[in-house]
Amino acid sequence: MKFFIDTANLADIREAQEMGILDGVTTNPSLMAKEGITGKDNVMRHYKQICEIVKNDVSAEVISVKFDEMIKEGEELAELDENIVVKVPMTGDGVKAIKYFSEKGIRTNCTLVFSAGQALLAAKAGATYVSPFVGRLDDISTDGMALIEQIVTIYTNYGYTTEVLAASVRHPMHIIQCAEIGADVMTSPLSVIKALLNHPLTDSGLAKFLADHEKAALPVKK
Ligand code: E4P
Repeated sequence: MKFFIDTANLADIREAQEMGILDGVTTNPSLMAKEGITGKDNVMRHYKQICEIVKNDVSAEVISVKFDEMIKEGEELAELDENIVVKVPMTGDGVKAIKYFSEKGIRTNCTLVFSAGQALLAAKAGATYVSPFVGRLDDISTDGMALIEQIVTIYTNYGYTTEVLAASVRHPMHIIQCAEIGADVMTSPLSVIKALLNHPLTDSGLAKFLADHEKAALPVKK
């Protein structure tokens, strides 16, 4: 399973990249705003900076909601770097834009997906990735992980090549469940990825190994 980091924070992206486990980045307008990135030039510059850190897929979301404007914005984003994946919302215009981009060889990530029907449309339009939002479904007492399972089954049934990118991942068990189900990608904040490192037996085991090593190194009393 590919690990993407869901942030526009350059320090977090650098840290995840240095861990050696990072396969890509997803951003969205809220994450860009959180970093104080506003205005077209700054937004474009920021995506360039992300692409300099991570030589892998970077999802950059269009702000436009009308087909013609989405096309113009998506083409500009795609020109920034070969690793840019144009993120397009799941709307009628969005599906049309995904179809257009896929015919032009521009890769896309269909975002804000909350149902199997939406995922089916994204795949039929030729999306490179589909992003079902697990955590936001959980937030409204709906099983987000069940949607991942449903989409994986549907795509397998028909051999769709669209990759299932589990988004809105909130805790380490979400990551484990995604891997069990067979999601192609998961995207989460750095804190969730780092939570996978932790186990109390690892900590106590390491402390004992180091203490034993120190003891053995002490001079032997005669
Ligand atoms: C997906 O690509 C989104 O950026 C993201 O995963 C949304 O997560 P949130 O529900 O935690 O905001």
